[in-house]
Amino acid sequence: MEEFKDKIVLISGGLGDIALGIARAYLQHGAVVLLSDRADKETASIRMSGLSDYKSRIRYRQVDVTDATAVRNWVDSAVEEFGKIDISVVNAAQVTLKPFRELTADEWDNEMKVNLDGAFYFANASARAMMNKSNDGNIVFLGSWAGHSVHQHLPAYSVSKAAVRMLCQCMALEYAPWNIRINEVAPGYVNAGLSKGIWRDDPSSRSAAKSKVPLQELIEVEDIAKQVLWMTSSQNKHMTGATVLMDGGLSLVRP
Ligand SMILES: NC(=O)c1ccc[n+]([C@@H]2O[C@H](COP(=O)([O-])OP(=O)(O)OC[C@H]3O[C@@H](n4cnc5c(N)ncnc54)[C@H](O)[C@@H]3O)[C@@H](O)[C@H]2O)c1
Repeated sequence: MEEFKDKIVLISGGLGDIALGIARAYLQHGAVVLLSDRADKETASIRMSGLSDYKSRIRYRQVDVTDATAVRNWVDSAVEEFGKIDISVVNAAQVTLKPFRELTADEWDNEMKVNLDGAFYFANASARAMMNKSNDGNIVFLGSWAGHSVHQHLPAYSVSKAAVRMLCQCMALEYAPWNIRINEVAPGYVNAGLSKGIWRDDPSSRSAAKSKVPLQELIEVEDIAKQVLWMTSSQNKHMTGATVLMDGGLSLVRP
Protein backbone atom coordinates (compact mmCIF):
# COMPACT_ATOMS: atom_id res chain seq x y z
CA MET A 1 0.00 0.00 0.00
CA GLU A 2 1.51 3.23 -1.22
CA GLU A 3 0.01 5.16 1.67
CA PHE A 4 2.49 3.66 4.20
CA LYS A 5 5.49 5.13 2.38
CA ASP A 6 7.53 7.20 4.86
CA LYS A 7 5.04 6.59 7.69
CA ILE A 8 6.76 6.36 11.06
CA VAL A 9 5.77 3.13 12.81
CA LEU A 10 6.79 2.23 16.39
CA ILE A 11 6.49 -1.33 17.71
CA SER A 12 7.13 -2.34 21.34
CA GLY A 13 8.35 -5.85 22.10
CA GLY A 14 9.71 -5.42 18.59
CA LEU A 15 11.98 -8.47 18.55
CA GLY A 16 9.09 -10.89 19.09
CA ASP A 17 7.81 -13.13 16.31
CA ILE A 18 4.56 -11.27 15.70
CA ALA A 19 6.26 -7.86 15.94
CA LEU A 20 8.88 -8.82 13.37
CA GLY A 21 6.13 -10.03 11.01
CA ILE A 22 4.26 -6.75 11.39
CA ALA A 23 7.51 -4.80 10.93
CA ARG A 24 8.26 -6.68 7.71
CA ALA A 25 4.81 -5.90 6.31
CA TYR A 26 5.17 -2.16 6.99
CA LEU A 27 8.73 -2.13 5.60
CA GLN A 28 7.55 -3.85 2.41
CA HIS A 29 5.16 -0.92 1.97
CA GLY A 30 7.83 1.74 2.42
CA ALA A 31 7.39 2.69 6.09
CA VAL A 32 10.16 3.56 8.53
CA VAL A 33 9.97 1.12 11.47
CA LEU A 34 11.27 1.81 14.98
CA LEU A 35 11.50 -1.28 17.15
CA SER A 36 12.15 -1.46 20.87
CA ASP A 37 12.56 -4.43 23.18
CA ARG A 38 14.41 -5.51 26.33
CA ALA A 39 17.44 -6.92 24.52
CA ASP A 40 20.72 -5.10 23.89
CA LYS A 41 21.66 -3.97 20.37
CA GLU A 42 23.85 -7.02 19.70
CA THR A 43 21.06 -9.50 20.41
CA ALA A 44 18.65 -7.26 18.54
CA SER A 45 20.73 -7.26 15.38
CA ILE A 46 20.66 -11.09 15.35
CA ARG A 47 16.86 -11.11 15.83
CA MET A 48 16.46 -8.49 13.08
CA SER A 49 18.79 -10.18 10.58
CA GLY A 50 15.82 -11.28 8.42
CA LEU A 51 15.02 -7.61 7.81
CA SER A 52 18.49 -6.65 6.57
CA ASP A 53 17.13 -5.64 3.12
CA TYR A 54 15.42 -2.72 4.83
CA LYS A 55 18.29 -1.71 7.14
CA SER A 56 18.19 1.99 6.25
CA ARG A 57 14.54 2.25 7.35
CA ILE A 58 14.87 0.40 10.68
CA ARG A 59 15.88 1.72 14.08
CA TYR A 60 16.30 -0.25 17.28
CA ARG A 61 16.35 0.95 20.88
CA GLN A 62 16.61 -1.03 24.10
CA VAL A 63 13.52 -0.11 26.13
CA ASP A 64 11.83 -1.98 28.96
CA VAL A 65 8.13 -1.10 28.68
CA THR A 66 7.74 -1.18 32.47
CA ASP A 67 9.98 1.91 32.65
CA ALA A 68 7.61 4.81 31.87
CA THR A 69 10.44 7.32 31.46
CA ALA A 70 12.36 5.12 29.03
CA VAL A 71 9.21 4.58 26.98
CA ARG A 72 8.48 8.31 26.84
CA ASN A 73 12.09 9.08 25.87
CA TRP A 74 11.84 6.56 23.04
CA VAL A 75 8.67 8.14 21.66
CA ASP A 76 10.10 11.67 22.11
CA SER A 77 13.31 10.72 20.31
CA ALA A 78 11.27 9.40 17.38
CA VAL A 79 9.40 12.69 17.14
CA GLU A 80 12.69 14.57 17.41
CA GLU A 81 14.26 12.58 14.57
CA PHE A 82 11.26 12.36 12.21
CA GLY A 83 9.06 15.28 13.26
CA LYS A 84 6.06 12.98 13.92
CA ILE A 85 4.93 9.46 14.61
CA ASP A 86 2.06 7.91 12.65
CA ILE A 87 1.43 4.41 13.98
CA SER A 88 2.19 2.63 17.27
CA VAL A 89 1.77 -1.10 17.70
CA VAL A 90 1.54 -1.99 21.39
CA ASN A 91 2.88 -5.50 21.31
CA ALA A 92 5.23 -6.30 24.24
CA ALA A 93 3.86 -8.98 26.53
CA GLN A 94 4.76 -12.00 28.58
CA VAL A 95 2.81 -15.01 29.75
CA THR A 96 2.94 -16.98 33.00
CA LEU A 97 1.57 -20.48 32.74
CA LYS A 98 0.33 -21.03 36.28
CA PRO A 99 -3.08 -21.33 37.90
CA PHE A 100 -3.98 -18.77 40.59
CA ARG A 101 -3.31 -21.28 43.38
CA GLU A 102 0.37 -21.43 42.39
CA LEU A 103 0.90 -17.84 41.24
CA THR A 104 3.07 -15.64 43.48
CA ALA A 105 2.40 -11.97 44.13
CA ASP A 106 5.59 -11.09 42.24
CA GLU A 107 4.49 -13.09 39.19
CA TRP A 108 1.10 -11.36 39.22
CA ASP A 109 2.74 -7.92 39.55
CA ASN A 110 5.16 -8.63 36.76
CA GLU A 111 2.44 -9.80 34.36
CA MET A 112 0.42 -6.63 35.02
CA LYS A 113 3.50 -4.39 34.76
CA VAL A 114 4.50 -5.64 31.33
CA ASN A 115 1.12 -6.41 29.74
CA LEU A 116 -0.99 -3.59 31.17
CA ASP A 117 1.21 -0.82 32.64
CA GLY A 118 3.68 -1.11 29.77
CA ALA A 119 0.82 -1.00 27.24
CA PHE A 120 -0.54 2.14 28.91
CA TYR A 121 2.85 3.90 29.04
CA PHE A 122 3.53 3.29 25.36
CA ALA A 123 0.03 3.92 24.03
CA ASN A 124 -0.44 7.10 26.04
CA ALA A 125 2.99 8.52 25.19
CA SER A 126 2.19 7.78 21.53
CA ALA A 127 -1.25 9.38 21.64
CA ARG A 128 0.12 12.54 23.26
CA ALA A 129 2.80 12.79 20.59
CA MET A 130 0.20 12.27 17.83
CA MET A 131 -2.12 14.84 19.44
CA ASN A 132 0.54 17.51 19.29
CA LYS A 133 1.05 17.05 15.54
CA SER A 134 -1.26 17.83 12.67
CA ASN A 135 -1.32 14.31 11.23
CA ASP A 136 -3.84 11.57 12.11
CA GLY A 137 -2.63 8.78 14.32
CA ASN A 138 -3.25 5.07 14.72
CA ILE A 139 -2.58 2.87 17.72
CA VAL A 140 -3.11 -0.89 17.71
CA PHE A 141 -2.98 -3.06 20.82
CA LEU A 142 -2.08 -6.71 20.51
CA GLY A 143 -4.69 -8.26 22.77
CA SER A 144 -5.59 -11.92 22.96
CA TRP A 145 -8.57 -14.22 22.75
CA ALA A 146 -7.61 -15.10 26.34
CA GLY A 147 -8.90 -11.67 27.35
CA HIS A 148 -12.33 -12.62 26.00
CA SER A 149 -12.73 -16.15 27.25
CA VAL A 150 -11.61 -17.79 30.47
CA HIS A 151 -8.35 -19.67 30.09
CA GLN A 152 -7.58 -21.87 33.08
CA HIS A 153 -3.84 -22.17 32.50
CA LEU A 154 -2.97 -18.51 32.13
CA PRO A 155 -5.29 -16.53 34.39
CA ALA A 156 -2.96 -13.57 35.07
CA TYR A 157 -2.36 -13.13 31.34
CA SER A 158 -6.12 -13.35 30.66
CA VAL A 159 -6.89 -10.66 33.25
CA SER A 160 -4.16 -8.38 31.88
CA LYS A 161 -5.47 -8.75 28.31
CA ALA A 162 -9.08 -8.11 29.37
CA ALA A 163 -7.84 -4.89 30.98
CA VAL A 164 -6.00 -3.95 27.79
CA ARG A 165 -9.34 -4.13 25.96
CA MET A 166 -10.87 -1.55 28.33
CA LEU A 167 -7.71 0.56 28.10
CA CYS A 168 -8.16 0.55 24.32
CA GLN A 169 -11.81 1.64 24.56
CA CYS A 170 -11.18 4.41 27.13
CA MET A 171 -8.27 5.80 25.16
CA ALA A 172 -10.17 5.59 21.87
CA LEU A 173 -12.95 7.77 23.27
CA GLU A 174 -10.62 10.35 24.78
CA TYR A 175 -8.35 10.76 21.75
CA ALA A 176 -11.02 10.57 19.00
CA PRO A 177 -11.29 14.39 18.69
CA TRP A 178 -7.67 14.46 17.48
CA ASN A 179 -8.36 11.84 14.76
CA ILE A 180 -6.40 9.21 16.60
CA ARG A 181 -7.92 5.77 16.01
CA ILE A 182 -7.17 3.20 18.70
CA ASN A 183 -8.07 -0.44 18.13
CA GLU A 184 -7.15 -3.94 19.17
CA VAL A 185 -6.30 -7.13 17.33
CA ALA A 186 -6.93 -10.14 19.56
CA PRO A 187 -5.47 -13.32 18.06
CA GLY A 188 -6.18 -16.88 19.10
CA TYR A 189 -3.48 -19.55 18.86
CA VAL A 190 -0.66 -18.16 16.73
CA ASN A 191 1.91 -20.47 15.20
CA ALA A 192 4.69 -18.31 16.67
CA GLY A 193 5.94 -16.42 19.69
CA LEU A 194 4.41 -17.03 23.09
CA SER A 195 2.30 -20.03 22.01
CA LYS A 196 5.17 -21.62 20.10
CA GLY A 197 7.31 -21.22 23.22
CA ILE A 198 4.74 -23.15 25.27
CA TRP A 199 4.36 -25.85 22.60
CA ARG A 200 8.15 -26.28 22.36
CA ASP A 201 8.21 -27.65 25.91
CA ASP A 202 5.32 -30.02 25.22
CA PRO A 203 5.02 -30.79 21.47
CA SER A 204 1.74 -32.73 21.84
CA SER A 205 0.10 -29.54 23.14
CA ARG A 206 0.41 -27.93 19.68
CA SER A 207 -1.89 -30.44 17.98
CA ALA A 208 -4.15 -30.45 21.04
CA ALA A 209 -4.45 -26.66 20.75
CA LYS A 210 -5.14 -26.80 17.01
CA SER A 211 -7.86 -29.40 17.46
CA LYS A 212 -9.69 -27.08 19.87
CA VAL A 213 -9.99 -24.31 17.27
CA PRO A 214 -13.39 -24.54 15.53
CA LEU A 215 -11.83 -23.47 12.20
CA GLN A 216 -9.03 -26.04 12.79
CA GLU A 217 -6.21 -23.68 11.81
CA LEU A 218 -3.44 -21.98 13.75
CA ILE A 219 -2.96 -18.31 12.91
CA GLU A 220 0.13 -17.25 10.97
CA VAL A 221 2.04 -14.04 11.75
CA GLU A 222 1.30 -12.76 8.22
CA ASP A 223 -2.46 -12.94 8.94
CA ILE A 224 -2.03 -10.68 11.97
CA ALA A 225 0.19 -8.27 10.05
CA LYS A 226 -2.45 -7.95 7.30
CA GLN A 227 -5.10 -7.12 9.88
CA VAL A 228 -2.90 -4.53 11.64
CA LEU A 229 -2.06 -2.86 8.32
CA TRP A 230 -5.71 -2.68 7.31
CA MET A 231 -6.69 -1.19 10.70
CA THR A 232 -4.07 1.54 10.34
CA SER A 233 -4.83 2.28 6.68
CA SER A 234 -7.18 4.88 5.24
CA GLN A 235 -9.57 2.02 4.43
CA ASN A 236 -10.43 2.06 8.11
CA LYS A 237 -12.23 5.37 8.42
CA HIS A 238 -14.74 4.72 11.17
CA MET A 239 -13.45 2.00 13.45
CA THR A 240 -12.03 3.05 16.83
CA GLY A 241 -12.20 1.41 20.25
CA ALA A 242 -12.90 -1.86 18.44
CA THR A 243 -11.49 -5.33 18.83
CA VAL A 244 -10.97 -7.68 15.94
CA LEU A 245 -11.05 -11.11 17.49
CA MET A 246 -9.23 -13.36 15.04
CA ASP A 247 -9.24 -16.68 16.85
CA GLY A 248 -10.88 -19.16 14.49
CA GLY A 249 -13.87 -19.29 16.84
CA LEU A 250 -11.82 -20.34 19.88
CA SER A 251 -13.47 -17.87 22.26
CA LEU A 252 -16.89 -19.32 21.33
CA VAL A 253 -15.96 -22.64 22.88
CA ARG A 254 -16.70 -23.05 26.60
CA PRO A 255 -13.60 -24.10 28.55
N1 LIG B 1 1.65 -16.13 20.10
C1 LIG B 1 0.35 -16.20 20.35
O1 LIG B 1 -0.26 -17.28 20.24
C2 LIG B 1 -0.43 -14.98 20.75
C3 LIG B 1 -1.82 -15.12 20.86
C4 LIG B 1 -2.57 -14.01 21.22
C5 LIG B 1 -1.95 -12.80 21.46
N2 LIG B 1 -0.59 -12.68 21.36
C6 LIG B 1 -0.01 -11.37 21.65
O2 LIG B 1 0.84 -10.97 20.59
C7 LIG B 1 1.87 -10.13 21.10
C8 LIG B 1 3.24 -10.62 20.63
O3 LIG B 1 3.48 -11.91 21.18
P1 LIG B 1 4.41 -13.00 20.47
O4 LIG B 1 3.61 -14.24 20.40
O5 LIG B 1 5.05 -12.47 19.25
O6 LIG B 1 5.48 -13.24 21.62
P2 LIG B 1 7.06 -13.03 21.66
O7 LIG B 1 7.50 -13.56 22.97
O8 LIG B 1 7.68 -13.57 20.43
O9 LIG B 1 7.17 -11.43 21.66
C9 LIG B 1 6.95 -10.65 22.79
C10 LIG B 1 8.09 -9.64 22.88
O10 LIG B 1 7.85 -8.77 23.99
C11 LIG B 1 9.09 -8.53 24.60
N3 LIG B 1 8.94 -8.09 25.98
C12 LIG B 1 8.51 -8.80 27.05
N4 LIG B 1 8.59 -8.08 28.16
C13 LIG B 1 9.09 -6.86 27.80
C14 LIG B 1 9.42 -5.69 28.50
N5 LIG B 1 9.28 -5.60 29.84
N6 LIG B 1 9.88 -4.62 27.80
C15 LIG B 1 10.05 -4.69 26.45
N7 LIG B 1 9.76 -5.80 25.74
C16 LIG B 1 9.30 -6.87 26.40
C17 LIG B 1 9.84 -9.85 24.52
O11 LIG B 1 11.24 -9.66 24.69
C18 LIG B 1 9.45 -10.31 23.11
O12 LIG B 1 10.40 -9.90 22.14
C19 LIG B 1 1.71 -10.12 22.61
O13 LIG B 1 1.01 -8.96 23.02
C20 LIG B 1 0.87 -11.36 22.88
O14 LIG B 1 0.14 -11.27 24.08
C21 LIG B 1 0.18 -13.75 21.00
